[in-house]
Amino acid sequence: MAARLDRAEGVAALELNISCPNVKEGGIAFSASPEAAVRVTAAVRDRTRLPLIVKLSPNTGDIAAMARAVEAAGADAISVINTLVGLAIDAERARPVLGNTFGGLSGPAVKPVALAMTWNAARAVRIPVIGMGGITTGRDAVEFLMAGASAVAVGTATFVDPLAPVRVIDGIAAFMAGKGVARVGDLVGAAWPERRGARPW
Ligand SMILES: Cc1cc2nc3c(=O)[nH]c(=O)nc-3n(C[C@H](O)[C@H](O)[C@H](O)COP(=O)(O)O)c2cc1C
Repeated sequence: MAARLDRAEGVAALELNISCPNVKEGGIAFSASPEAAVRVTAAVRDRTRLPLIVKLSPNTGDIAAMARAVEAAGADAISVINTLVGLAIDAERARPVLGNTFGGLSGPAVKPVALAMTWNAARAVRIPVIGMGGITTGRDAVEFLMAGASAVAVGTATFVDPLAPVRVIDGIAAFMAGKGVARVGDLVGAAWPERRGARPW
C-alpha cells in the first residue's frame, strides 16, 4: 500500500495508523510493543519517500518509548493520541452496548490524557508531534501546542459542529493576538519547565 501510494498523484504524506482499537486486526497489536511498532514503521519507511506520520495509541505503557522507537525507525512525525479503549454496558439488557464489545473513547473526556501523552511524546523525540484528543476550542489547541505539539487535529468536535476546525484556527489566532504572540511556533512547548519565565508574551 505504501509503495503504491508513493507513486499516487496528490498524496502529500502517509499517516500510519498503528493504533485503532475498534476493528479486529486493526493495528492495535503494533502499538502494544515498541518492537512491533519499529517493524511496521521500518517496513513502510522502506517503501515510500513521502513524509511518514506514525499515529500512536494511548493504550500503551510508555508513550515516550513508543515515540522514540518509531522515530528511530524512520518516522518523520508522530500523531498522538488515537482513542482510548472504552466499554459501555446496557444494564437493562445486561450486555455491552456496542456489537464489538469495546469501542474507542474520544472527545473532551480524553483531553487530559491526550495532553499528558503529547507532553511525554514531544519531550522524547526531535521530530514534530501532532496533538489531538478532545480539542473543541482554540484554547484547547493552544494547550496542546504549549504541551509540545507542533500541530493539532480535531476529530470528534467536527461531529458536533462541522466548522469546529475553523473555530479552533480562529481561536488560536485570537489567543495569539490577545497575548501579542507573533508566531504559532512560539507557543510550542511554552509550558515546559525549562521555558518557564521565558513566556512568549
Ligand atoms: C468515529 C471515529 C472514527 C475514527 N477513525 C479513525 C481512523 O480511521 N483512523 C485513525 O487514525 N483514527 C481514527 N479516529 C481517532 C481520531 O482520529 C482521534 O485520534 C481521536 O478521536 C482523538 O481526537 P478527538 O477527541 O478530537 O476525536 C476516529 C475517531 C472517531 C471518533
